[in-house]
Amino acid sequence: YKADIDASDTEKGTYPHYMMKEIEEQPFVIRKIMSEYSDENGNMKIQPEILEDIRNCDKLYIIACGTSYHAGLIGKQFFEKIAGKPTEVVIASEFIYNMPLLTEKPLFMFISQSGETADCRAVLVKVKQMGYKTLTLTNVKGSTLSRESDNTLLLYAGPEIAVASTKAYTAQIAVLAILAAVVDNKIDINIFKELGKIAYSMETLCDDKDNYKLLAEKYLKDSRNCFYIGRSMDYFVCLEASLKLKEISYIQTEGFAAGELKHGTIALIEHNTPVVAVITQENINLNTRSNIKEVKARGAATLVISMRKLSQETDEIVIDDVNELLSPLATIIPAQYLAYYAALLRGCDIDKPRNLAKSVTVE
Ligand code: G6P
Repeated sequence: YKADIDASDTEKGTYPHYMMKEIEEQPFVIRKIMSEYSDENGNMKIQPEILEDIRNCDKLYIIACGTSYHAGLIGKQFFEKIAGKPTEVVIASEFIYNMPLLTEKPLFMFISQSGETADCRAVLVKVKQMGYKTLTLTNVKGSTLSRESDNTLLLYAGPEIAVASTKAYTAQIAVLAILAAVVDNKIDINIFKELGKIAYSMETLCDDKDNYKLLAEKYLKDSRNCFYIGRSMDYFVCLEASLKLKEISYIQTEGFAAGELKHGTIALIEHNTPVVAVITQENINLNTRSNIKEVKARGAATLVISMRKLSQETDEIVIDDVNELLSPLATIIPAQYLAYYAALLRGCDIDKPRNLAKSVTVE
């Protein structure tokens, strides 16, 4: 495999679109992150100042927008479940007007691919004025957020050119997992071992892209709308999967906590409405599968992305058995491709969708 990804890597090469190139770089990015965040013995390594700030704070506040916000929601699970550190995730533009009640010793963590997002910068300026410590996770060395915060963790994803973020999202999740486990590993999870497995299954998933094209043709090409449903970690992936689909294919989509469907949204299910369920968490497997039955009974066209195939009645994309907490890194791959092929089949401008900018420098 390609051994390295560096800052000069801005050519599309033989790929039809940057988005496809960036989707397929994800296994390499995971390995690159593992090598950047390891010491000479191959153990995980994070700058001591950063660890000290996180260990000393009584709560982490993650601030981000868009796809980076979705990575933040997963990061919260890592900090709480792996490191036992209370964490709150706040959309940057909301924080300014609706600041949560802060604890005594908060630490602010900004997640931003570009490091330039104005909504994040506004929060950074505000919390610095209040005298709080700050940390930025970004893909761009020397970016504004990186320069202006106390510490920076780089994503090492290489330049991301397509407007729809793919490899920066998985890089953010991988770095957050490593960071949480170095801060305190209360569940004895071997992050490097699990990430290694995931990089491998990402490759397997990428090899199956012709299948995703067929599924996009069957379920999404002519659809007006689409729902992604999941519970727990799968729910957070659904939010990102649906953002990916709507931003490049212009299909109206929503990511939903599967249990909430019956409290309103199920009213929108009609004959052939696509519903994609993500199911990787053992403890909720049967619950989400019963939600699939409910929507199917109302005419939905259902597709499942799962870790263990159960049903024969529905098209199912099966991912390898990977760690449940880290499964978003794998399940997002077919979802990114589904968005890509839906956009392709609908004749959309994949790398430069209408009305969107790669980096938004106005509030
Ligand atoms: C824009 C992009 C999104 C991105 C968001 C946050 O809206 O189109 O893809 O997720 O900004 O960007 P950042 O660079 O802060 O991660």
